[in-house]
Amino acid sequence: AVGALVTGTGLAVAPAPAPAVPHDHQYQDAQPAGEPTRRFTLTAGTATVSVGGRDVGAWAFNGQVPGPELTATVGDVLEVTLRNRDIARGVTLHWHGYDVPNSQDGVPGVTQDAVLPGQEFVYRFRADQVGTYWYHTHAVSDIGVRKGLYGVLVVRPAPATGVDVTVAVHTLSGLPLPAPRTEPVGAGTPVRLRLINTDSTTHRYALAGTPFRVAAIDGYDLRGPTPLVDTAVMIPAGGRYDLVFTAPATPVALFVDGRQVHSTGPVSAATGAWPVLDPLGYGAAATAPWARYDRKFTLVLDRGLDLRGLLPRYAHTVNGAADPDIPSQVVRLGDVVKFTIVNRSPVVHPWHLHGHHVLVLTRDGRPATGSPLWLDSFDVRPGEVWKVAFLADNPGMWANHCHNLAHADAGMTLHLMYS
Ligand code: C2O
Ligand code: CU
Repeated sequence: AVGALVTGTGLAVAPAPAPAVPHDHQYQDAQPAGEPTRRFTLTAGTATVSVGGRDVGAWAFNGQVPGPELTATVGDVLEVTLRNRDIARGVTLHWHGYDVPNSQDGVPGVTQDAVLPGQEFVYRFRADQVGTYWYHTHAVSDIGVRKGLYGVLVVRPAPATGVDVTVAVHTLSGLPLPAPRTEPVGAGTPVRLRLINTDSTTHRYALAGTPFRVAAIDGYDLRGPTPLVDTAVMIPAGGRYDLVFTAPATPVALFVDGRQVHSTGPVSAATGAWPVLDPLGYGAAATAPWARYDRKFTLVLDRGLDLRGLLPRYAHTVNGAADPDIPSQVVRLGDVVKFTIVNRSPVVHPWHLHGHHVLVLTRDGRPATGSPLWLDSFDVRPGEVWKVAFLADNPGMWANHCHNLAHADAGMTLHLMYS
């Protein structure tokens, strides 16, 4: 749909050779025309929620953690009114992984002002991307998300058939949500399990009682045939995996870091023994859509001493600088852009670019040989080098940051800017 988008803006841009990109951007409509077909109101406020029988102070949307699950069918126009009751430091809504027009991206100081107590902001965008996503505040995001200002966003190609469940794993005051749940599922029922990691660290997910296929990662369907596997999957901070299987006659249980969070009945399985799936070699390969790159950037992730405050402190740095001193990466509409991301620090950095999905080219020199992986969140481990590429097809000013939100707030945030 690249040609259609370029025409839609009336811009005379010569894009790189038409790539087969599964993107369907919509920047031509900052606020899409037409009546909203799905309306939601999310009111942020301090709340007390019960976690495993304990009362915990939280920040919640509509009094609940996670916030309401927003679901839509592809083609819907979503209108979400955000209100702030009493979160003194302000809130916004960022649609994590949803490549919305820049004005709707919810980054305070970049695309809008934070919504202060008593204020509201109305977001509107077309649900053009099918898949599993989530929303969260982007104002003091480390604290805000940790305290509970997040929720699920699922866009289906058609109303759900079979069993279609979403499990958003989150740690609130050290207590994991959701509490273990049991939902019986009849044998032979097709199940789609949408897993979202809303924490700042990687989690390991495993299914006891059935093999499964990975149907999608970060909202994008993998190219088939996708083999049945019986492994664990590692989901980076912010990332999503959709697992599909046919319910067997015996119970199935989901384990996160060895702890059972969801099941269809009683399961007593030894946990932790599963090998981890390598998504780079999973599913059917396709040829890379781009033969050349218009721009190349290298991001070296490291740790440095920040001497700007009263006391020196560690900062998470990109190319030796910390936010707001990291130069923006400037691209033009239509550019094919390559990023090389090098982690020289001793900790994992889950990388997240707003407004775009990137195609994985290589991870530590190993080419992606399986289905094309279009990711918006990926773990760059200590010592690793990732090469990824994307088409610059969504103009604006986009945050590009580590999704360990404490790192992001401690300097590891820069911006991608269209000239
Ligand atoms: Cu999920 Cu900039 O964030
Ligand atoms: Cu980080």
